[in-house]
Amino acid sequence: MEIKKVGVLGCGLMGAGIAQTAASAGFDVVVREVSDELCERGFAGIDKSLAKFAEKGAITAEQQREIRGRLRGTTKFEDLADCDIIVEAIIENLDTKRDTYRRLDGLCKPETVFASNTSSLSITEMMTATSAERQQRFVGLHFFNPVPVMKLVEVVRTILTDEEVYETAVEFGKKLGKVPVRASDKSGFVVNRLLVPYLLDAIRALEEGVGSIVDIDNGMKLGCGHPMGPLTLLDFVGLDTTYYISEIMFNEFRERRFAAPPLLKRMVMAGLYGRKSGRGFYDYADPKNPVPMNLV
Ligand SMILES: NC(=O)c1ccc[n+]([C@@H]2O[C@H](COP(=O)([O-])OP(=O)(O)OC[C@H]3O[C@@H](n4cnc5c(N)ncnc54)[C@H](O)[C@@H]3O)[C@@H](O)[C@H]2O)c1
Repeated sequence: MEIKKVGVLGCGLMGAGIAQTAASAGFDVVVREVSDELCERGFAGIDKSLAKFAEKGAITAEQQREIRGRLRGTTKFEDLADCDIIVEAIIENLDTKRDTYRRLDGLCKPETVFASNTSSLSITEMMTATSAERQQRFVGLHFFNPVPVMKLVEVVRTILTDEEVYETAVEFGKKLGKVPVRASDKSGFVVNRLLVPYLLDAIRALEEGVGSIVDIDNGMKLGCGHPMGPLTLLDFVGLDTTYYISEIMFNEFRERRFAAPPLLKRMVMAGLYGRKSGRGFYDYADPKNPVPMNLV
């Protein structure tokens, strides 16, 4: 099957990036938000990002106009009815996502593929909000932030995903200029399955006095060639988000390596979420010169 028209649900951080990337790849894109105001805010972000690409010479002014011309915002679900694929990037809440899918299932044409960008929820659990026919046309498309820049997309299949639909989703990922990684619907897919235990272990190493915040970060940066250390990375990702994902993964696998260390839980309880709250493993009072916190 051929994908021409793309629907995107949500014009937040990820939805805006997905919409921009799809329009840049030549697809007609309709983005649905809950209000005109949020739609405008999302499109302002897209305009800013496209202007940056144009400034750097990555796209011409004409291409910038053409890309923008392929993007349309709406607050009506009905405007997504004739899309060939719908990529959902709304808030990470299972009930909200299931309600949205149930509603769209009745509106969209039978061939429309449903894809979720969820980081932690089960694709299978979302899929069951739709009809038996649609369940075979349901996949995960897990992009990384910022979507227009990051090259990876995890393409996730459930035990019911139709083979042709899955291959269409993989091809769609390639057409967006991404490298698709094939994964099955198990919590964390490939990247978080490996990354989350590593990040949690870095917190355990700090708790157990293996090294200081700076030494743990420098160890992994300079010893393994990582662009940033695990505790710095945790502050970027958000400690609340990491805690939430670790709880879901622990519930799925019941293995200690996915369990949140007590220090992480306490930092979240205390409101130390990382960069977004101003403090995490580092204090960002001066964002250019983060100072390690005294936590243990
Ligand atoms: N932030 C990341 O780094 C990241 C990475 C990969 C995947 N994800 C996943 O992407 C999804 C979105 O995350 P985000 O960071 O963009 O969140 P966000 O809060 O920036 O954006 C979510 C948007 O969805 C909108 N929304 C809520 N309900 C809606 C509905 N019914 N229809 C249309 N829009 C609706 C909200 O108004 C909001 O603008 C989540 O499932 C998240 O797990 C996030």
